[in-house]
Amino acid sequence: MRVCRVGLVGAGGVAQRHARVLAGFDDVRIVGVTDVVAEAAARLAGTTEARVFADVPALLSADLDAVYVCVPPFAHGETEEAVLAAGAALFVEKPLALDRETATRIDRLVEQRGAVTAVGHYWRYLAAVDEARLILADRPARLVGGVWLDKVPPVGWWPRRDRSGGPIVEQAAHVLDLARYLVGEVTEVWAVGNGTPPDVDGADVDGATAAALRFATGAVGTLGTTCALGWKHRAGLEVYADGLALSVGEDGLLVRDADGERRMPGDLEQGRTSVDRAFVDAVRGIGADIRVPYAEGLRTHLLALAVAESAVTGRPVRIPPLEPAGV
Ligand SMILES: NC(=O)c1ccc[n+]([C@@H]2O[C@H](COP(=O)([O-])OP(=O)(O)OC[C@H]3O[C@@H](n4cnc5c(N)ncnc54)[C@H](O)[C@@H]3O)[C@@H](O)[C@H]2O)c1
Repeated sequence: MRVCRVGLVGAGGVAQRHARVLAGFDDVRIVGVTDVVAEAAARLAGTTEARVFADVPALLSADLDAVYVCVPPFAHGETEEAVLAAGAALFVEKPLALDRETATRIDRLVEQRGAVTAVGHYWRYLAAVDEARLILADRPARLVGGVWLDKVPPVGWWPRRDRSGGPIVEQAAHVLDLARYLVGEVTEVWAVGNGTPPDVDGADVDGATAAALRFATGAVGTLGTTCALGWKHRAGLEVYADGLALSVGEDGLLVRDADGERRMPGDLEQGRTSVDRAFVDAVRGIGADIRVPYAEGLRTHLLALAVAESAVTGRPVRIPPLEPAGV
C-alpha cells in the first residue's frame, strides 16, 4: 500500500483536527467524510479533497484502508461494527462508548478480525510523557494526583450524562490513561460527585468530582475534575516517588529531585501528529508504534466507568484484573 485511503465518520472538532494532521502526510488520501449533519460533512470536505458520503455504508463502499470514528460518546457501536465488517483499520476517538457493553462487544470483534486499531489517547505520544516514563521506570510511584480543571466544552451533548458519560468518562479518561501508562493498573476506586451541575442549559453532570484510586503496585492516588471554570486551567498528573516529584500533562514536564529542578515544555501538536502518524504507519505495514490499540483503550474506558459508577452509587468499585490473553 503506497497511499493510505482514509474515511472520516463525524466531522466535528476532533475530526477537523485529524483531517488537518492527515492532510500533512503525503502518503494519506482523505477519500470521504460522512456526518449525520450533512452541512458539517460538507464543511469539512470543503477543506480537503474528500467527497461527502450520505452515510457509513456509502463511505465504506469507497475502498478504504482506514476509518476514523470521531462521533460523540453516545453514537458509538454500529459504525465500528460496519468498519470492522468491511475489513478496514479503525481509529476511534475516546471515550469508546457510554457503557461497558458496547465497547466490550467491539473489542471482541476487533480481536476476531485481527484489525489494526488505535484510540485517540495522544498524550502517550508526548515527549514529556516519554521522559516521565523513563524517569519512573526504576522509581516506584507512591502517590499520584490527577486533575482535569476546565470549562464546559462548547458542544451541546457534553453536559448531559446520557450523551457524554460525564466529565470522568469524556475528559478525565486522558488523565486515567496516563496514570495507567506511568504507574500501572488501578484495582479499586471510590468517588464522590458534588451533585451540582454546571450552569448551562440541560446540564445534569456533576460540576466537580473527587476520586481515590488504589494501584496494583501499592501506590495510592486521587483524581479531581471540575468544569466550573471559564477556562482550561490544567489537565495532568502529579507523581511522587522516593525523593522525586514529577508533574506531567498538557503543559509539559516538571521534575524535582536531589539534583534540582528541570522542565520540558508541552507540545500538544507533536502528540497529535504522532498518534496519527503511528496509526497510518501501522495500517501501511511500515511501523509498529500504536500505543493504545482498542483493547488497551478498553482498559482505560472500564476504569473511567468504574470511577463514574462509584460517584453515582457512593460505593467503592473493584476493577477485576486483566484476563490472560486468549481467555
Ligand atoms: N483525543 C482528543 O484529544 C479529543 C479532542 C476532542 C474531542 N475528542 C472526542 O471526540 C469525540 C467527538 O468530539 P468533537 O469535539 O469532535 O464533537 P463535535 O460535536 O464537534 O462533533 C461530532 C460530530 O459527529 C457527528 N455525529 C454524531 N453522531 C453521528 C453518527 N452516528 N454518525 C456520523 N456522525 C455523527 C455530529 O453531527 C458532529 O458533527 C468525543 O468523544 C470527544 O471526547 C477527543
